[in-house]
Amino acid sequence: MPIKLQKESIIEKVQELAKRRGFFWQSAEVYSPVGGFWNYGPLGLVLKNKIISSWRKWFVKDENAYEIETSNILPEIVWIASGHVENFVDKIVECKKCKSKFRADHLIEDILGEKEKLEGKTTEELTRIIRENKIKCPKCEGELSEVRTFNLMFPIYVGAYEEIKCYLRPETTQASVLDFMQVYRTQRGKLPLKIAQIGKAFRNEISPRQIFMRMREFTMAELQIFFNPEETKYEDFEKLSNYEVNLLPVELRQKGEENFVGISVSKALEKGWIPNEIIAYYIAKVFAFFTEELGFRKDYIRYKELLPEERAHYAKVHWDLEVYSKDFGWQECVNNAWRSDYDLSRHQKFSKQNFSVFENGKRILPHLYEPSFGIDRIFLLLLVNSFREDKERTWLQINRKFAPYDVGVFPLVSKDELKTKAREIYILLKNDFNIFYDESDSIGRRYRRADEVGIPACITIDFQTLKDNSVTLRDRDTMQQIRTRIPDLPDVLKKFLNGASLETLS
Ligand code: GLY
Repeated sequence: MPIKLQKESIIEKVQELAKRRGFFWQSAEVYSPVGGFWNYGPLGLVLKNKIISSWRKWFVKDENAYEIETSNILPEIVWIASGHVENFVDKIVECKKCKSKFRADHLIEDILGEKEKLEGKTTEELTRIIRENKIKCPKCEGELSEVRTFNLMFPIYVGAYEEIKCYLRPETTQASVLDFMQVYRTQRGKLPLKIAQIGKAFRNEISPRQIFMRMREFTMAELQIFFNPEETKYEDFEKLSNYEVNLLPVELRQKGEENFVGISVSKALEKGWIPNEIIAYYIAKVFAFFTEELGFRKDYIRYKELLPEERAHYAKVHWDLEVYSKDFGWQECVNNAWRSDYDLSRHQKFSKQNFSVFENGKRILPHLYEPSFGIDRIFLLLLVNSFREDKERTWLQINRKFAPYDVGVFPLVSKDELKTKAREIYILLKNDFNIFYDESDSIGRRYRRADEVGIPACITIDFQTLKDNSVTLRDRDTMQQIRTRIPDLPDVLKKFLNGASLETLS
């Protein structure tokens, strides 16, 4: 019996494909996996690393940022000072009968829909909503406990007697803040000073779900911009001042407006929706990264400013960049927060060290603005949004630059002369391109296998190759083919991977 694929959701199909072809799967799968932990396979890791290297190009190199790498485990005092011990909490509720635990807001939302505004509600208010609506345990119908808070950080006890209490970091930011002075001094820095970190973060999510959307261990790419709050001009702003983004500021949200506005960042600045040029510049730059570098549709990207009760405890202004997919809806992928001098002043107070700098004849405590990217979410949305299928085939119409393999190389049939020629081409291209070499099965099957993992181009060596040294070059998306001479292949492929169509290359 053929499998009835139409019954599955795109997410299920992508997950099945990801596991079968080596993109990702759950960690410790041979045992009973713990929710929220995922492994990248060979193809997935190439794609993830490509996203990270694009990020480095845009936000480290182009921004003249200093990239650092810091430890994942930091002592408890860091997290007391940062406010995470007190504030980095979710509100949970437990079933008195089966002991299952749920995030109270998710549970209420799942049952009552989004009509209840739950952000900022206290534990008492959430308990009241649960009682008034007679919400029971979705697993066993048991009675639910009072709502209580639950800290999302993983405690870890260091030392032979486990005498030093630490936490796995839930964000990279704190280490950048602690090291701000080191970087400022050793690099003879001046404001705005930018520090970048890419690394793992850990959060003990109560209900991990939707694959990478809510993970317990994940990769963040964070850029911390330390700036002088009295300096309202930013020299790079002009480069992107006319850049148009989609956004919904607090001012409109508070009037009940739900429609996002397409507007240039300079106009948004004029209207007072964005507070200063630095933030306006990064609002544009992060948006451009999604559309121009990663290749998301412009109407699939938007900024929602968070209301005071929705903001993280450290944020003065907070914009979520959300990415749309039909399957996941709108998902936050970048948290953009103006953290003021909150972090530096707290660490200054708790460590009794001086974090102020001398700029423009004055001692000041810098302010921090931070776009914080969830790399795994971006990975998953790129994959889900690129998934295509018709009666004939399944393919990933992934941005050519990000495909795990650049090109497939296939001898048409399993004849020695064709295989020898195919290997010559493999050797010609292998230093510059990621190649998927395949000589088994019919050519049609090999094309399907290549399409399924999003290989943008396939080269086939056939009998004509032996006569005139030309091969076919096939486009994954249109399935069209052109003939190309072998010596021209490196150049033609480079152009194709940069976006040229086959017509312009034939
Ligand atoms: N560093 C920002 C965040 O953790 O969301």
